[in-house]
Amino acid sequence: MKKHLFFIGYMGSGKTTVGNALSEMTGLPVLDMDEAISKSFDMPIRQIFDTFGEEAFRNAETELLREIADLEAPLIVSCGGGVPLRKENRDLLKENGKTILLEASIDELIKRLSSDNESENQVSRPLLNTSITPDSIGDMIEKRKAAYEEAANFTILTDGLTPTEIASRVIDLMNS
Ligand code: S3P
Repeated sequence: MKKHLFFIGYMGSGKTTVGNALSEMTGLPVLDMDEAISKSFDMPIRQIFDTFGEEAFRNAETELLREIADLEAPLIVSCGGGVPLRKENRDLLKENGKTILLEASIDELIKRLSSDNESENQVSRPLLNTSITPDSIGDMIEKRKAAYEEAANFTILTDGLTPTEIASRVIDLMNS
């Protein structure tokens, strides 16, 4: 049976915030993949990249996704931004629930990532080493677009919406 609800999207698209809002509204538990992987390595994501390399982090993501797939009780899952890039991960998403792609305009992503970068999230985003510009964000979106769209059952453009409004749309989509 399809059970879990996965949020995917580019860094700064609001997966964690919306996952938490939806969890509060529905009472379903939420699992943030970055947080779980960081806990299992007992270090921030950036340190995992620096110490073991990106491949080790990507393997940990796939391993965690397999574990989530085996769980019977439905979960809201906030995926790391790179999760849909592997074919095996896309298959796991498809076989184990519904996947919502959260999209935002480049301007909105820059706004969110810049304010995150002034906070503790800076340590958890090793792929944002270079400065955040419309070109760098646009390039990454372009490179990932096909994989994200292939993985998604639904897409929500989040510009101008609050996390609660986005979570309400997800509930409507699930009930339709
Ligand atoms: C990544 C996104 C990050 C984190 C890691 C790699 C990516 O998660 O998993 O830094 O490749 O897009 P968020 O999307 O939650 O920031």
